[in-house]
Amino acid sequence: MSDKAILEFRGSKYEFPVVEGTENEVGINIKTLRGGSGLITLDPGYKNTGSCESGITFLDGEKGILRYRGYAIEELAEKADFLEIAFLLIFGELPSREELHKFHEDIKHESHVDEEMKKIINGFPKSAHPMGVLSSLTSALIAFNPTSVNVASDEAMYNAIVRIMAKFPVLVAWTMRKKMGLPLEYGDDNLGYVENLHKMMFKRPNKEYQLNKVVIEALDQLLILHADHEQNCSTSTVRIVGSSHAGLFASLSAGISALWGPLHGGANQAVLEMLEAIAADDGDTEKYMAKAKDKNDAFRLMGFGHRVYKNFDPRARILKQAADEVLGDLGIEDPILDVAKGLERVALEDQYFVDRKLYPNVDFYSGIIYRALGIPVEMFTVMFAMGRLPGWIAHWREMRLRMEPIGRPRQIYIGENSRSFKTLDQR
Ligand code: SDX
Repeated sequence: MSDKAILEFRGSKYEFPVVEGTENEVGINIKTLRGGSGLITLDPGYKNTGSCESGITFLDGEKGILRYRGYAIEELAEKADFLEIAFLLIFGELPSREELHKFHEDIKHESHVDEEMKKIINGFPKSAHPMGVLSSLTSALIAFNPTSVNVASDEAMYNAIVRIMAKFPVLVAWTMRKKMGLPLEYGDDNLGYVENLHKMMFKRPNKEYQLNKVVIEALDQLLILHADHEQNCSTSTVRIVGSSHAGLFASLSAGISALWGPLHGGANQAVLEMLEAIAADDGDTEKYMAKAKDKNDAFRLMGFGHRVYKNFDPRARILKQAADEVLGDLGIEDPILDVAKGLERVALEDQYFVDRKLYPNVDFYSGIIYRALGIPVEMFTVMFAMGRLPGWIAHWREMRLRMEPIGRPRQIYIGENSRSFKTLDQR
């Protein structure tokens, strides 16, 4: 017997089919709701609303489970590298050795950025926030790659994906170098994808670049942990912008802007600023906990809470351990890590946080590692965007290949009823 949902309203009954996913999630398909009943649903923030069916990433917020294409994040973070994960998320399977080699070679072949782009980046003041610069540069890439993707062609889709996977790390590096007043240089095609990103970011003029395996492995793992997270705010933005058949680069530029917000990817920068404020305030954790619980205070405990996870964010667990390991391997003593651990301990025992199931999320520990890697705090969310790039691409590709309709939600109007125009002397 196929499951169905029945809605009763003003004496009439309406039946709706039920959709069940491969992990037994159940959704009511309300495609016929308005046509049949005249009703719409209302769900600000889409807390109870699925926007699509997707096969890319699975989250179980109650159990703290995160899987990319069926593989557990814990296993991927330990055994894979970022380029493999990008291939997995975008094309659905872990690449063979040959596929991975070809993917990387094709990316290297596309890793130049038109020199004219330097004029655009040089037009920004040094004070510009890197996320605004990155979003603008990503959009500006369209001018130099004007042909929109023919999504019906696997080859055209592959070439567009390779192009942005190749050029985005250059934009990330140039965004940081612009802020630091360094020349906008390229990396080295003899290096791995993440090694090359790191060299482009940190190579100093007149100095030999020293590759540090601990640093590269930490950066690689950070990018893997940020690579996708199903229908989060920025990914939903990429999908809805792409649903108008706007190009891939334009959709990604919109996603970068959505990620910038402090409630989303911008939280990693806000967490470090909060931890530094607590450290500067004699480590007065209780004061900040009180502010976080005070409804009259806009302050929130940054890096805590999540729309989906009502348990530990599995990425936060991995990052907490990684922070200890990376700082230890690099011989860095960072008192901020102790402040973070102290704050976590207090919050996890606090009734307000327990009642609301508020746990550390991906942004709580990531900034401590970024800082240990020498990344400036204003670049933290840019690093989140670098990690999330393959996830955004995967969702844009899935949405276009599934030929999803243009995203256009309904509303409940609460404004003025019909009224006649009044001339100036009648007002
Ligand atoms: C990311 O969606 C994703 O998957 C995102 C992400 C990804 O990988 O893409 O995981 C990355 O964005 C992680 C989240 C980073 N943001 C922060 O750390 C900012 C601080 N967190 C909060 O702003 C909040 O928890 C959100 C935005 C993350 C989630 O907000 P929700 O789901 O809309 O929950 P809510 O605001 O309705 O909060 C429920 C209750 C409220 O209290 P009551 O009204 O019930 O009394 O919990 C309270 C909130 O006031 N609350 C917090 C809190 N988070 C929620 N109170 C204090 N501090 C917090 N951090």
